[in-house]
Amino acid sequence: MDILLYIKKNTRFSKNDPPLACISAPIIGGLYQMSSNPPDDMLRLARKSGKIFSIWFGDNYTVFINDPELLEEVFIKNHDTFGDRPFVPSLRIVCDNFNDLVLNDNDTWKPLRKFLDQSFTKTKLKALAPVIELQSNNLVNRLKEYSRSGEPVDPFPYLRKFTFSIIVKMVLNIDLAYEEEPNEGIMNTMFTPINELVKRIAQGAVFDTIHLLSGLYYHSIGKLLNKSLDSIRTIARNIIKEHRETVDPKNTRDVLDLMILAGYDDELMLNVIFDMLIAGVETTASSLSWLTLLMVNHQEEQDNLRNELQTKFPQWENIQATDRSGCTYTSAVIKESLRHRQLAPFSVPRIAKTDAWIGEYFVPKGTHIMGNLLAIHKNYFPDGEEFKPSRWLDDTSLNPVGQTKWVPFSLGPRVCVGYQLAHDELFVAVSKMFHNFKITSPDGSKLDETPAHGITVQPLHSHKYKFEIVN
Ligand code: HEM
Repeated sequence: MDILLYIKKNTRFSKNDPPLACISAPIIGGLYQMSSNPPDDMLRLARKSGKIFSIWFGDNYTVFINDPELLEEVFIKNHDTFGDRPFVPSLRIVCDNFNDLVLNDNDTWKPLRKFLDQSFTKTKLKALAPVIELQSNNLVNRLKEYSRSGEPVDPFPYLRKFTFSIIVKMVLNIDLAYEEEPNEGIMNTMFTPINELVKRIAQGAVFDTIHLLSGLYYHSIGKLLNKSLDSIRTIARNIIKEHRETVDPKNTRDVLDLMILAGYDDELMLNVIFDMLIAGVETTASSLSWLTLLMVNHQEEQDNLRNELQTKFPQWENIQATDRSGCTYTSAVIKESLRHRQLAPFSVPRIAKTDAWIGEYFVPKGTHIMGNLLAIHKNYFPDGEEFKPSRWLDDTSLNPVGQTKWVPFSLGPRVCVGYQLAHDELFVAVSKMFHNFKITSPDGSKLDETPAHGITVQPLHSHKYKFEIVN
């Protein structure tokens, strides 16, 4: 049996298969290529193989797209063939029936996505502006307290509180108070267990690729992990019940109200709550964390950023997302840090619904497809490994539509649903932080930028910074 599988994994499907990145070993296929830093491993294989390559991850035949034109062909032009998600057993821990926005197949995904897109329109996000304003001011004021005490601080828990507070207001109409610490209250009860769980799923991802193990994993460790979400499910069900009793069609409060009025059932609403908490909190918080670290290590860029902000805005408290036009340097710093530190290096996996072609390459039905966004960011820009905000000074658009080389949010119909919200949050938080503070390492030295691969790519080491008030 092993021999047959070994032969299968080293036999071509056709004369036109994408180049195989490596010989496949029995059982594990090409998994031996993976270190603790898979994005770098896949970048190395992209540099060796070119625009596209194939690799067996355990029992999954997987194709990586490393080239912007091919990515456009797959994610935009042939969305109907490549819009579905593969069955990833460990994700059943979070969403047993795969009936949510992130995991649903194209046919059931389409109407749900169309419905949820309505909560991310410009008008809807404008209505969220007071929440972003309040919570970004809370973030800055909390950091000022640390600054006055002279104590260096790791801002990440507060960056995460900032993004969490916006998601829970938008989806569940929950207000987070200034005094509430990130490890207390609703954030502790709802977000901390989800975050821990998703990290453990990411660590166990290898079990998803060897089919014999994935069943065992799901029915043993997976079931236990699933139980740890029960307390969150109970809270979320209570919130849904309370919303059902108080919903007012003339005065909708949040995404949940809109879903109730549209007739969605509780199970789907629960899954969408999980989607938003998993996809909408850690992502933007990690971007802010990278941007801060990059600014600490590039003090001259930080000075340029602060000069622009202090010149443009006499007061910092009322800076809005709509003030972005004219903030060329700030937009360039945000754009470059999203390029330089790709948070979702392989996007979210897709699957070929039928036998298909990608350019001149054949992929059989069932092939797992990965957009190698990191490789595109590193290989298709001059000096791609360097952090250089100046590369964007003539092109500061943060809209992913129409861009094929700058793809932090992926592209096509299944592009990140929250990209506009992420930009609003990033612009407001970055503007206020760097208007107020000169941020440095405690002893002025450069800090380690090694990435760690989990739900998102984050700095491996948490750092404490000195926040010096400068306005
Ligand atoms: C800097 C922050 C963010 C980055 C870099 C990011 C990146 C991504 C990427 C690469 C995808 C995969 C798209 C694909 O399958 O091709 C995605 C999907 C998604 N993102 Fe984001 N994201 C961010 C922030 C957010 C926020 C704030 C929210 C929620 C409010 C969010 C919600 C989602 C959801 C629900 C999906 C699945 C979309 C679907 O399948 O239709 N993301 N994101």
